[in-house]
Amino acid sequence: MAATDKPQKASASHSKHDRATWFQGSSWACPDVPQSNGSPWRLVLLGAPGVGKGTQAYLLNQRLKACHLSTGDLFRAASKAKECDQTPAMKAAMEYMRRGELVPDATVWEMVRERSACIRCAGGFVLDGFPRTLGQAELLKRLMASEGIPLTAVVNYELPLAEIVARLSGRRTCEKCKTVYHATERPPKVAGCCDRCDGKLFQREDDRPESIKVRLEAYERSTAPLIDFYRKSGLLMQVAAKGTPEDIFQRTVVELEPQRIGRFAQKLWDAAENRRE
Ligand code: AP5
Repeated sequence: MAATDKPQKASASHSKHDRATWFQGSSWACPDVPQSNGSPWRLVLLGAPGVGKGTQAYLLNQRLKACHLSTGDLFRAASKAKECDQTPAMKAAMEYMRRGELVPDATVWEMVRERSACIRCAGGFVLDGFPRTLGQAELLKRLMASEGIPLTAVVNYELPLAEIVARLSGRRTCEKCKTVYHATERPPKVAGCCDRCDGKLFQREDDRPESIKVRLEAYERSTAPLIDFYRKSGLLMQVAAKGTPEDIFQRTVVELEPQRIGRFAQKLWDAAENRRE
């Protein structure tokens, strides 16, 4: 089976889809911001660690053109910065990550707030791994309300625990291009070597059994309550994460379809209103 296609980390050279603003901060401009079509998709992906959010975020990005904004990718990229460029808060964040614990809300929020241009982006977004606590969800809600930007939907992926653990413990990532594989389900052609760039595959530090346990507990304690939070706001969509990534993607699109129709109807309504004025 082929590797899971996942977006690649930003490079300083501003290559296409490099998510420069997300990775480097608001002083960097993305080279290929999609033109606004008047109703960009603004999605939040929820689900336990390893359920496949990143894999689906990539597929949604390809189809809907909304940027894939992952806070986990952001922290991993920051951890590669020179030690002298890392703030004490960022160094502490790396330690939380290694242990599988959540990074404190204040540190996460500082990073997201610095990148609020990505939330306002005309191309929309697929948020993966944020918000992860009720506190973060409230902060996002306030930021979006202050900008007058609505969320389109929140997709919650569900999978039995045993399959989640199997996905996490088998995950391997290319250290160069970040393509994601699975040791048995989605192996590379040559063991330990990336099909795309020959880069070396590694196991994420937080995919070791002791960290997986801590991550799953943190999810149950802090992130699962967001399901109710977004259900109450009428934005929640539940999607089974069983099957191939393509199956899951198709299920997601079916769930999002009523939103698309609603957005189309709203556009027609707005156009009619404009003609009347
Ligand atoms: P983060 O990077 O967000 O990790 P996560 O939520 O634990 O999610 P993962 O990336 O592990 O899994 P995923 O659901 O994206 O699955 P994937 O598609 O890779 O966060 C890491 C850490 O950063 C946190 O623990 C925390 O410390 C910190 N952090 C980040 N954001 C934070 C926040 N907002 N607040 C506080 N702390 C924060 O798939 C997994 C595997 O399964 C892969 O091998 C893939 O190939 C395979 N796979 C995917 N889909 C399928 C399929 N359908 N069938 C078979 N295999 C599949």
